[in-house]
Amino acid sequence: MQTIFSGIQPSGSVTLGNYIGAMKQFIELQDEYNCFFCIVDQHAITVPQEALELRKNIRSLAALYLAIGLDPEKATLFIQSEVPAHAQAGWMLQCVSYIGELERMTQFKDKSHGKEAVVAGLLTYPPLMAGDILLYNTDLVPVGEDQKQHIELTRDLAERFNKKYREIFTIPDSRIPKDGARIMSLQDPTKKMSKSDPNPKAYIALLDEPKQIEKKIKSAVTDSDGIVKFDKENKPGISNLMTIYSTFSNKSIEEIETQYEGKGYGVFKSDLAEVVLNEILPIQERYYEILNSPKLDEILDAGAEKANKTAYKTVKKMERAMGLGRKRK
Ligand code: AQP
Repeated sequence: MQTIFSGIQPSGSVTLGNYIGAMKQFIELQDEYNCFFCIVDQHAITVPQEALELRKNIRSLAALYLAIGLDPEKATLFIQSEVPAHAQAGWMLQCVSYIGELERMTQFKDKSHGKEAVVAGLLTYPPLMAGDILLYNTDLVPVGEDQKQHIELTRDLAERFNKKYREIFTIPDSRIPKDGARIMSLQDPTKKMSKSDPNPKAYIALLDEPKQIEKKIKSAVTDSDGIVKFDKENKPGISNLMTIYSTFSNKSIEEIETQYEGKGYGVFKSDLAEVVLNEILPIQERYYEILNSPKLDEILDAGAEKANKTAYKTVKKMERAMGLGRKRK
């Protein structure tokens, strides 16, 4: 069985972008692969976080993973900071990373842009992410398009390490969905939808109230011609909404165009809200049940134990290959 690893940052409330680009894939894949799904809390602290809020977000994300259908009998769900091998591997991989290649990462450029003081962790986040992936001998990493560059760096670091020290790592591939790999902001459709966007109208969170979701869809920026037609370049707003509609309804873009011919944006947007809510409301219901259940901690404890076993073995191999520590009989 091949292995899958992927993670989500508990840096806010999970958006439709995270769900469509990454999490929906996780559920489809858990039957066919040996899966490790992680709450990457150490990545979240590369930007300012309020401690109590972060703790809350970690638990919330864990419950959400389960609410969307992750089965802990099939997949391992755990919190990154509960598996020390991640930070250890991240450090060793930093020591084979070049500052120039880290500075070229688009996400680093975006998140550091205009900031007076930039923490080092924002720059060294990609080797930590590479460690996350490589510790589990991962074959495939299901992610949205924005993470493609980080997976390419992970491959480079793994190859570099294998060549310089010893063949330890499997070289992973990214798995990017055909549709919905990059869901855009509802307020600026040239920008990616992000859970840390300061404007909450720019994203739909899976845990938003139904009324909020309807409102956010109604106020999504489109254009003035009122024709429901997919044209990413000239009509990015409506095209983005059509992509969301398509992934939630399983209808093709052509079918949607035909269905809304001559009907205008108002009708389309209210149907979109309905389609989105049909899928999200049962998730929300399950989420609140799981969040308050003691089972959640049991699942996370078992996940950390299982992840620790595999990750510890890899980290020891890395240390041996690099010559760290002492030789043991
Ligand atoms: N807009 C998006 N469309 C499709 N996929 C997306 N992903 C994120 N945004 C979109 C995918 O979601 C997974 C988890 O992402 P992450 O939490 O590790 O960090 P991110 O990519 O930086 O996501 P956000 O929402 O933009 O978080 P913040 O605002 O904290 O930086 C990844 O697979 C990602 O590709």
